[in-house]
Amino acid sequence: MRPWLLALSLAMLPGLALAQIEPGDPGAGKQLAATWCANCHRIAPGGPGPASDIAPSFAAIAALPSTTSMSLRAYLRTPHANMPDYRLSREELDDIVAYLLMVKP
Ligand code: HEC
Repeated sequence: MRPWLLALSLAMLPGLALAQIEPGDPGAGKQLAATWCANCHRIAPGGPGPASDIAPSFAAIAALPSTTSMSLRAYLRTPHANMPDYRLSREELDDIVAYLLMVKP
């Protein structure tokens, strides 16, 4: 391999590592969300949801420019006044985040 080609491939490695690959299973995340989150959040566009709009829909949350895998994880790991503290396991968190990021309208 030519040296410059090798250098180029090495330079691209960190980019690959940073690419957002969600470890969670969105299907499982949807199940969890339906059980735990749907009382307050509309978890799917046009899908079943709460009678009131006290909490933003998952689609609205996913559409926020500030919403990232990191921001969701940080949010869901800390207690909030208006939301139950779920103490999600690592796997549950992965699944719910993967699902939430998928429901962009
Ligand atoms: C008891 C009602 C309730 C339940 C159940 C609930 N939430 Fe919430 N959630 C809220 C409210 C109310 C807000 C808005 C908080 C605020 O604006 O202070 C919120 C905000 C959020 C946000 C932040 C939105 C933003 O603006 O960045 C996320 C993410 C979120 N909820 C995810 C979840 C997930 C995931 C679940 C299920 C594991 C869940 N919520 C369950 C009431 C609830």
